[in-house]
Amino acid sequence: MTTPRPGRVLISEPELRTRIGELGQQIARDYAGETPVLVGVLQGAFLFMADLVRAIPGDITTDFIGLASYAGGNRSSGQVRIVSDLAMPVENRHVVVVEDIVDTGLTISYLRRNLEARHPRTLRVCALVDKIERRQVDVRIDYVGFTIPNVFVVGYGFDFGGLYRNLPYVAALDETPP
Ligand code: IMP
Repeated sequence: MTTPRPGRVLISEPELRTRIGELGQQIARDYAGETPVLVGVLQGAFLFMADLVRAIPGDITTDFIGLASYAGGNRSSGQVRIVSDLAMPVENRHVVVVEDIVDTGLTISYLRRNLEARHPRTLRVCALVDKIERRQVDVRIDYVGFTIPNVFVVGYGFDFGGLYRNLPYVAALDETPP
């Protein structure tokens, strides 16, 4: 069986740049006078996080949390575990979780519960992509970059079995045999 390849571009580089710029401005306005900590969810959000923080004209700090929710293919295992934890406590901090995609919602609902237990001052979620059709649990997403239909995407941090994260745009995975 051949490995599926990136297909049609769903979100281009200019579209990413424009929308992430808007999200950065919105976050800066919402946290004016405060210093929120942006928590990037690894690995998928590493490119989004890097571009988003540069689009925020204001004081912030950053941290990362590594989660594993997928077995390496393209199906949710429904199981989430922390593979590397935050470096700093978030107690009494304004926390903005920076996630690549919300699909079934299982990962972000687990992460919300986990972080709430650390008593942040506030907790919001910013997701680059929302695949709302696939939702299994009701989760609040405070900032959404793009809403997309039920297609598996790769590129700009999104992987298929570890591949394609390095593409500078978001594409649909082409699963049709050549
Ligand atoms: P959820 O728990 O089903 O919401 O899935 C969240 C995680 O699944 C994301 O952080 C991604 O790592 C992964 N994921 C979901 N959909 C896709 C996709 O279309 N491409 C790549 N990864 C995905």
